[in-house]
Amino acid sequence: MGREFVDLFDRWADNYDDTVSGVEEEYQAVFHKYDQILKEVADRATGHVLEFGVGTGNLSAQLLSKTDQYIGIEPSEKMREVAEKKLGVPIYDGDFIAFPEPKTKVDSIVSSYAFHHLTYTEKNQAVEKYRQLLSKGGKVIFADTVFLNETAKNDMINAAKGKQYYNLAEDLETEYYPTIAELTEIFENNNFRISFEKLNDFVWLFEAIK
Ligand SMILES: C[S@@+](CC[C@H](N)C(=O)[O-])C[C@H]1O[C@@H](n2cnc3c(N)ncnc32)[C@H](O)[C@@H]1O
Repeated sequence: MGREFVDLFDRWADNYDDTVSGVEEEYQAVFHKYDQILKEVADRATGHVLEFGVGTGNLSAQLLSKTDQYIGIEPSEKMREVAEKKLGVPIYDGDFIAFPEPKTKVDSIVSSYAFHHLTYTEKNQAVEKYRQLLSKGGKVIFADTVFLNETAKNDMINAAKGKQYYNLAEDLETEYYPTIAELTEIFENNNFRISFEKLNDFVWLFEAIK
């Protein structure tokens, strides 16, 4: 579920790694310190790891260098092809809510630059499910664009338009980028303890402990 943006990623798969390396001016600030952001997520992951929205497999590569207890889930067929070629492991068709479920509990559920594809209700459904899947003390560790509040979000949209970054402005207006308060509510309602760390002008790392 929450697969409404998957066609876009099928089309983006072949040059996604160029975008994250900063060749597109419009998205430079979003992907500023991209490798370091992925490392922050990978460093916090322990034990049996489940990743959502694998994309071209950049976070996965860091995870696989530290564990072989890894399951990757990605809804875009083209992204899966790129990632499998890069990683040499299977990546499974699925999304944040509907996916082949691991047979045993997992210790870390991770994702980068992807959770905003879910609406508020879908995010809540996903987090409810993760509580069942995680071992005691297990963690959700996500890095994604998050806003301090609605004013901060509107300021970013206006700033993007002011710089004629119309694609970025449209993304911010049409995808489901949450505020800190929304994420806090979703995770706390599902009995997680959540904390946030800002990693660039757009991206925050949020870690929620069961
Ligand atoms: C911006 S890319 C991020 C890829 C990678 N995680 C990274 O950090 O570079 C977003 C990824 O989320 C995937 N995606 C889109 N909707 C999704 C959903 N509902 N569930 C899981 N992944 C989704 C896309 O296909 C795409 O591969």
